Amino acid sequence: MQAMKDTQIKKLIEAEKKRQKSVINLIASENVVSKDVLEALGTELTNKYAEGYPGKRYYGGNEVVDKLESLTQDRARKLFGLNASRWHVNVQALSGSPANLAVYLALVPLGGKIMGMSLDNGGHLTHGYKVSMTGKAWKQIPFGVDPKTETIDYVDLKAKAIAEKPDIIVGGFTAYPRIVDFKKLRAIADACGAILMVDMSHFAGLVAGKAYPSPFEYADVVTTTVHKTLRGPRSALIFSRLDKTITNQKGVAHSFSELIDKAVFPGLQGGPHLNQVAAVAVALKEAASPAFKKYAVQIIKNAAALADELKKLGWRIISGGTDSHLILMDTWSPPVGGGAGLGGKEASDRLEKAGIIVNKNTIPGETRSPVDPSGIRLGTAAETTRGKKEKDFRKIAQKIDKVLRKR
Ligand SMILES: Cc1ncc(COP(=O)(O)O)c(C=O)c1O
Repeated sequence: MQAMKDTQIKKLIEAEKKRQKSVINLIASENVVSKDVLEALGTELTNKYAEGYPGKRYYGGNEVVDKLESLTQDRARKLFGLNASRWHVNVQALSGSPANLAVYLALVPLGGKIMGMSLDNGGHLTHGYKVSMTGKAWKQIPFGVDPKTETIDYVDLKAKAIAEKPDIIVGGFTAYPRIVDFKKLRAIADACGAILMVDMSHFAGLVAGKAYPSPFEYADVVTTTVHKTLRGPRSALIFSRLDKTITNQKGVAHSFSELIDKAVFPGLQGGPHLNQVAAVAVALKEAASPAFKKYAVQIIKNAAALADELKKLGWRIISGGTDSHLILMDTWSPPVGGGAGLGGKEASDRLEKAGIIVNKNTIPGETRSPVDPSGIRLGTAAETTRGKKEKDFRKIAQKIDKVLRKR
């Protein structure tokens, strides 16, 4: 490839590459993509406009990109073991937030109720939180964790769902370390007449690698980003059940899939980013490999080792451990064995100075502020891609302890 002529941008790209290589990356939502994914992103596919869907476009010249989009859809269904007669998948959403927004726009009347995990208990902004568009156009009915176990309180969730009758229940998280019981969520959704959507953005790669339960048996709609544990480009997928319908005021039934496609385009977006779609297809093929299965299992082993070592060193881990790639660590409670606790901001700043990148995070029952909360979130997906194993993560825990323990 010809060298880039814009030296100013080239320098910044090189500097970022160097930064990424020089740190231990424990950001739970990041990963390190393959050269093939990067190559697909930097191609002439970015030149093409293709508003619409395969076979139904508003522009000419789509014979190649129609094949590309259909192949990406096939790979997405295949990866998660889905039958094309039962599941549709939209591969055009530009990222996770617009994907979630598209689902609500399609299926929830404006002003309706979204039942989602509250932000400080591990939910995402787009699960109806007030600062997000999803909390302005719809009303959030928050659910959370049991203060003692710090795991989802399904009894409380069910009682709230029956009392509030939400239009949709969103299972999934951005900062919750445990397995979500999708079967229970299905039963609760059925008990209150809600649609069940699972946002598997964080654990999609773990589901693909069969290291975490799949939501597809129970959910009506499944959204996911592609760029976290799934190790693809920044993008999102929306899976929807073809047999689920909504009947409009004229008495006409429309499938969820049809409504979601319309919400993505023309509802929220214009043309798809086809270079991104190609990179998604590459990542989906990679995720179907036996090596990826091993990778997914290793991510969880590494997270368990990191959590275990931090606990042994005296730190409080939310819910006592993890079943996934992520750990929530309470930095505000003083560690056992001496030293004071510290706020999440200071913890994250100190670690960054020591070459470990994490993010500050609220914890259940948060008593401080989101800008300087009581904890940090750690994830193992990126460093597992780089080949780290349990013993490496135990060493990382020891380094974290050294940096955070006030002397
Ligand atoms: C569960 C969940 N859903 C949606 C999103 C939004 O994704 P994006 O940042 O691509 O908009 C995130 C991002 O962290 C997430 O964790």
